[in-house]
Parts: sequence; structure tokens; C-alpha cells
Amino acid sequence: MTGYRLRVALGLLLCPGFVWSAEKPNSCVECHKQVEGQTRGPATLAAEDVHFQRGLSCVDCHGGDPTAMDPQAAMDPAKGFLGRPRREQIPQFCARCHADPATMRKYNPNLPTDQYAKYLTSQHGKRFSVGDADVPVCISCHEAHGIRSKKDPASPVYPTNIPGTCASCHSDASIMDKHGLPVNQHWDYSQSVHGQALLFRGDRAAPHCASCHGSHEAAKPRTVAIGNVCAQCHSLTRDLFAKSPHKAAHEALGLPECEVCHGNHLIRKPSDEMLGTGQDAVCVSCHEPGSTGYVTAQQMRSAIEQLKTHMASAEAAVRHAAELGMDVGDAEFELREAMTQLTQERTYVHSFSAATMEPIAEEGTHHALRAEGQARQAIREFHFRRQGLWVTLIILALVVSGLLLKIRDLERSDSTDKMDDTSPRDSS
Ligand code: HEC
Ligand code: HEC
Ligand code: HEC
Ligand code: HEC
Ligand code: HEC
Ligand code: HEC
Ligand code: HEC
Ligand code: HEC
Ligand code: HEC
Repeated sequence: MTGYRLRVALGLLLCPGFVWSAEKPNSCVECHKQVEGQTRGPATLAAEDVHFQRGLSCVDCHGGDPTAMDPQAAMDPAKGFLGRPRREQIPQFCARCHADPATMRKYNPNLPTDQYAKYLTSQHGKRFSVGDADVPVCISCHEAHGIRSKKDPASPVYPTNIPGTCASCHSDASIMDKHGLPVNQHWDYSQSVHGQALLFRGDRAAPHCASCHGSHEAAKPRTVAIGNVCAQCHSLTRDLFAKSPHKAAHEALGLPECEVCHGNHLIRKPSDEMLGTGQDAVCVSCHEPGSTGYVTAQQMRSAIEQLKTHMASAEAAVRHAAELGMDVGDAEFELREAMTQLTQERTYVHSFSAATMEPIAEEGTHHALRAEGQARQAIREFHFRRQGLWVTLIILALVVSGLLLKIRDLERSDSTDKMDDTSPRDSS
């Protein structure tokens, strides 16, 4: 204790600019702003800390007496001064307020108070409870000072920053090797459709680590519940899957629902090649040639290919008509309708039934054929108009030359008349 006092006194000596301000009785901030080294940090981060913005201060977390200018009095354990909490104390240190609805309601009744309870159920919390020093505590993900709201883009738990926050441990082999966990999640995720959308295009509809694992409750999605994780955003796909013959098959064999075909972190943009019986088709890894699954996979793929063929032919006709300067608005509308059906077909792949895809394929083909019909009609019209133009031009030319001939005829007969008039007079 004497050693501590000595260090405090030394610290005081090191803050020559320390002035006691009567209007702002917060000796903690005033003094700490001026001490050197690590102890200054917390005071400089106060302005951006959500706790300070709500009128809380150092004393609300650390205890002590913020009206005392004397360091011993200010940081007196008898006045509830807690000092620096040890790592193993931190979840409860924060939970003192955050798990107490009565305290939190005073500030923000809408802020949930379940973080600590959820944390204890997570893989992190379970390992924390048995003294594992590698797992995160509250400040690993939120910092201890300069804590920001999750809505603040500079917060480590703002959606676009979450993958980096989790990766600070999960991409570190020196930590993960001990736990037998791979370190590829962040790398794979950042290459996936989801990571590309969130990290590179800022599309916040795309999931980050906590969308799939939970934040405080972070755990591995249990094998059969993966579909539910994805269903938060891909609900139609999940509903189709749930009614498909694959649902029971996956349950019986303990196969992870969506993951079997799409993976988890490295989910790529799917292609039609994934479907059917070709080299890149996922179906052939489980379905033998001749089996119902194999035959159905072939039928489903050919339904998609047929629609694509009709659409390609329609697109070519529409492009041609547009190049000729014809109005192709209606045909383009039909093409878009066909495209909607094609997208629909790709979703309905998850019904794993050729019969379910059939009416969609028909509807799409209907629109593609209409688009092509309209485009061909426009092309015919163009040629008809051009022929009409030539006919008109020829008629015009004929009329003009007829007129010219007539005029010449008239002029000629006019001059013979004049000659007839004068010649007798001349001869007389
Ligand atoms: C007059 C200056 C002064 C005042 C007032 C003061 N501190 Fe400190 N505080 C220090 C110095 C200097 C240290 C570093 C002491 C050390 O290294 O042991 C310190 C250390 C700390 C520590 C770290 C203790 C540890 O266990 O490592 C905490 C936490 C802290 N202060 C919080 C507070 C709070 C809360 C208040 C207000 C109630 C407060 N301080 C008031 C100067 C002050
Ligand atoms: C939201 C609660 C909270 C508030 C508010 C808070 N602290 Fe802390 N403080 C902590 C926690 C938690 C730690 C332990 C950090 C660690 O172990 O890395 C800590 C550690 C410290 C330390 C030890 C050195 C360090 O940086 O780790 C000092 C000094 C300190 N706080 C001073 C202050 C001062 C001064 C204020 C006010 C300007 C303040 N704290 C406000 C939670 C808080
Ligand atoms: C593994 C990282 C991690 C740990 C550990 C962690 N948090 Fe969080 N916390 C997050 C993430 C990510 C969010 C934002 C997403 C969300 O709300 O789930 C968040 C959000 C919050 C929020 C805002 C909640 C809301 O709904 O607006 C509070 C409050 C909070 N955490 C407190 C705590 C407390 C207290 C602890 C310790 C018991 C803790 N956190 C531990 C990652 C973590
Ligand atoms: C003295 C009570 C108290 C303690 C102790 C405390 N907090 Fe808070 N915390 C609050 C209050 C009050 C708010 C502001 C709530 C609001 O108005 O939205 C808050 C807000 C937060 C937020 C922002 C939530 C959001 O996204 O809007 C986070 C994150 C947070 N605290 C984390 C922590 C962590 C981590 C600790 C422990 C180091 C801690 N708190 C300790 C009372 C406390
Ligand atoms: C401070 C380091 C640290 C941070 C930050 C961290 N983790 Fe962890 N996490 C670990 C450790 C260590 C384990 C292994 C625990 C064990 O031995 O089971 C783990 C385990 C997990 C597991 C369970 C894996 C399994 O096979 O059971 C999931 C899921 C997980 N973390 C997700 C996350 C997410 C999501 C985030 C970010 C919101 C995150 N972690 C942040 C250290 C961390
Ligand atoms: C689209 C959902 C999704 C996203 C986003 C996601 N994960 Fe996963 N994660 C999973 C699934 C599914 C599993 C496999 C779990 C199972 O089989 O039970 C998994 C497994 C894990 C595991 C266990 C070890 C392993 O690799 O199998 C860890 C650790 C993990 N994820 C961490 C992360 C981290 C860190 C991030 C962010 C960089 C992240 N995850 C992003 C869905 C996701
Ligand atoms: C938080 C919402 C969310 C969750 C959870 C989610 N996704 Fe996504 N997913 C999206 C968004 C948004 C896109 C579109 C990204 C883009 O713009 O490229 C997408 C795209 C996809 C794509 C590519 C679609 C295409 O046509 O390019 C696949 C495949 C996919 N997700 C599968 C999954 C699987 C499997 C899971 C569960 C392990 C999952 N998603 C969880 C939101 C989510
Ligand atoms: C991980 C293995 C696996 C993959 C990959 C897989 N299936 Fe299956 N599928 C099964 C199992 C197991 C059953 C149920 C037993 C059976 O009928 O073969 C099943 C059943 C089916 C059925 C119902 C068969 C019947 O007898 O009524 C169809 C149709 C089907 N799958 C289509 C597909 C298509 C299309 C793909 C590719 C997009 C595919 N499957 C990929 C494992 C798989
Ligand atoms: C048996 C393999 C298989 C399973 C299981 C599976 N998918 Fe797919 N998924 C595919 C194939 C094949 C495609 C590509 C269809 C195409 O483009 O022709 C696809 C395409 C997609 C697409 C892009 C097309 C669209 O619907 O927008 C998304 C998103 C998707 N899957 C999500 C999921 C989700 C979520 C689950 C779990 C509920 C799941 N998938 C389960 C094989 C599967």
C-alpha cells in the first residue's frame, strides 16, 4: 500500500499542470489527463465513450471519490475504489450495470440486458468459466475505454468491423492451435459472396460473423440448425428445402443443411453448372447414375437450359430490332419477365423436384416466346416500311418524270403554235 501511495505521489509530481477545477468536480479526469504513460489513456478517450455521453464517468466503473483532489483520497478503497479490474473479474464488472434492468432502464429502456447471460452460454463464456485465458471478455470486443455504441461506424462491433474484431483471435494460429481450431474463417469469408458484399461494397444486408454465430452467444451453428441461420435472410429457399425430399435425408444422415452444397465461410456465387450431372454438379457426389435423384437432377438442369435457350434467341431478336431503330419496349418487358422466372427457377432448385420447376419453366418460356414474337414483328415492320418507302419513291419518280414529259410536250406544242401564227404573216 505504501508502494502504491508512493507511485501515486510520484505521478502527482509528474503532472505539473494539474489544476483543481471547482466547476467540474471530476478529479479523476482532470488528473489523469495530465499523468504520463498508460494511465493517461482513459482520460483522453472519454470524449468518444458512450458512457461519458450518458453522464457516467470514471467513478461509475472504478469507484473512488471524484471530488477529492488528493490522489490518496480520490482513489481510496474505503470510498469504493476498485482500481484496475483483473481480467477474470471483467464480465461481472460490466454486468453490474448491463445485466441489471433497473439500472439500465434509467438510461435506455430499449437496451437489452442479456449480454452477460448469453455470454455465459457461449463457447467463449463456457471456457471463461473454467479459467481459459484465451477466450474474449467484454473488453476484447468493446475495449475498456472509448467504448462506442454499436451504431457508431468507428466501433469494433459496427457490422463492417466485426469480422476484423473476431479475426484478431480467430486468424491468430498462436492462439487457435492450442484449441484445435482452423484459422481460415476470415480469409474464406472475405472471398465469399457475403464478405465481398459487406466488406467491399458496404452492403449491410449481408451477414458478418455474428449474424451466423451470434455475438455474446457465439457458438457453432449446430448441424441441423444451419438452415435456420441462413433462413434469417434466405427464407424462401429454406421453406422449399424444408418441404423437399432432402430435408428428411439430411436429418437421417446428420448432414448440415445448406452447408453440404454451399460451404459455410467460402460461399461462392452459385452457377447452373452446380446442378445436374456434369463435372461441376454437386448432385453426382451423392446420386448414382440411374437413381431417381440423378434423373431428377438432369431434368431440373434441362428445364433451366431450355428457358435459357429461348431467352438467348429472344435477346438476339430484340437486339437486332433495337439496332434497326425500332421501339422494343414491350419485348424488353417480356424479357425481364422471363428473367424473373429464370431467377425463380434457380431458387426452386431447392424443392429438388422437377415437377415443381415445370410450371415456372413454362411461364418463363411463354414470356421469352412473346418477346421474340414481338421483336420479329418489329423487324418485319421495319422491312415492310423500307419496302413501302421504295415503292413510294418509285411512284413519286414516275409521277415526276411523267410530269416533266408532259411539260416538255406542252412547251413543244406551244412553240409549233407560235410558228404556225407567224409564218403566213412573214410570207405575205
Ligand atoms: C491527483 C491525481 C489523480 C487523481 C485525482 C486520480 N488519479 Fe487515478 N491514478 C493517478 C496516478 C498517478 C496513477 C498511477 C498510479 C500507479 O501507477 O500505481 C493512477 C492510477 C489509477 C488507476 C489504475 C490503478 C491500478 O490498479 O493499476 C485507476 C483505475 C485510476 N487511477 C482511476 C481513478 C479514478 C476512478 C479516480 C477518481 C475517483 C482517480 N483515478 C483519481 C492519479 C490520479
Ligand atoms: C465502462 C467502465 C470504465 C470506465 C467508464 C472507465 N474505466 Fe478505466 N478501466 C476499465 C476496465 C475494464 C479496465 C481494465 C482494462 C484492462 O485490463 O485492460 C480499466 C483500466 C484502467 C486503468 C489501468 C490502465 C489501463 O489503461 O488499463 C486506468 C488508469 C483507468 N482504467 C483509468 C480510468 C479513468 C481515469 C477513467 C475516466 C476517464 C476510466 N478509467 C473510466 C473500465 C472503465
Ligand atoms: C466476442 C465479442 C464480444 C464479447 C466478448 C462481448 N460483446 Fe458485446 N457486442 C458484441 C457485438 C458483435 C455486438 C453488436 C451486435 C449485437 O448487438 O449483437 C455487441 C453489442 C453489445 C451491446 C449493445 C447491445 C444492443 O443490443 O444494442 C452491449 C451493451 C454489449 N455488447 C455489452 C457487452 C458486455 C457487458 C459484455 C461482457 C459480458 C460483452 N458485450 C461481451 C461483441 C461482443
Ligand atoms: C455504471 C454502469 C455501467 C457499467 C459498469 C458499464 N456500463 Fe456500459 N453502458 C452503461 C450505460 C448507462 C450505457 C448507455 C446506454 C444507452 O443509453 O444506450 C452503456 C452503454 C454501453 C455500450 C453501448 C451500447 C450500444 O451499442 O448502444 C457498450 C458497448 C457498453 N456499454 C459496454 C460496456 C462494457 C464493455 C463495460 C465494462 C467494461 C461496461 N459497459 C460497463 C452503463 C454501464
Ligand atoms: C480474445 C480472442 C477471441 C475473440 C476476440 C473472439 N474469439 Fe471466438 N474463440 C476464441 C477461442 C480461444 C475459442 C476456443 C474456445 C475453445 O477452446 O473451445 C473460440 C471459440 C469460438 C467459437 C466456437 C468454435 C467451436 O468449434 O466450438 C465460435 C463459433 C467463435 N469463437 C466465434 C467468434 C466470433 C463470432 C467472434 C467475434 C464476434 C469471436 N469468436 C471473437 C477466442 C476469441
Ligand atoms: C454465413 C454464415 C457464417 C458466417 C458469416 C460466418 N460463419 Fe463461422 N461457421 C458457419 C457455419 C455454418 C459453421 C460450421 C458449424 C457447424 O458445422 O456446426 C461455422 C464454423 C465456424 C467455426 C468453427 C471452426 C470451423 O472453422 O469450422 C469458427 C471458429 C467460426 N465459424 C468463426 C467465424 C468467424 C470468425 C467469422 C467471421 C470472419 C465467421 N465464422 C463467419 C457459418 C458462418
Ligand atoms: C444476414 C443475412 C444473410 C444470412 C444470415 C445469410 N445470407 Fe446468404 N446472402 C445474403 C445477401 C444480402 C446476399 C447477396 C450478396 C450479394 O449482393 O452478392 C447473399 C448471397 C448468398 C448466395 C449467393 C446468391 C447469388 O445468387 O449470388 C448464397 C449461395 C448464399 N447467400 C447462401 C447462404 C447460406 C448457405 C447461408 C447460411 C450458411 C447464408 N447465405 C446466410 C444475406 C444473408
Ligand atoms: C450430400 C449428399 C447429397 C447431395 C449433394 C445431393 N443429394 Fe439428393 N438426396 C440425398 C439423399 C441421402 C436422398 C434420400 C435418399 C435417396 O432418395 O437417394 C436424396 C434425395 C433426393 C431426391 C428424391 C429422390 C427420390 O427417391 O424421391 C431428389 C430428387 C434429389 N435428391 C435431387 C438432388 C439434386 C438435384 C441434387 C443436386 C443439386 C442433389 N440431390 C444433391 C443426398 C444428396
Ligand atoms: C443439395 C445441394 C443444395 C443444398 C442442400 C442447398 N442448395 Fe442452394 N443451390 C444449390 C444449387 C445447385 C444452386 C444453383 C442453382 C442454379 O443456379 O442453377 C443453388 C443456389 C442457391 C442460391 C442462389 C439462387 C437463389 O435462390 O437466389 C441461394 C441463395 C442458395 N442456393 C441458398 C441455399 C440455402 C439457404 C440453403 C439451405 C436452406 C441451400 N441453398 C441448400 C444446391 C443446394
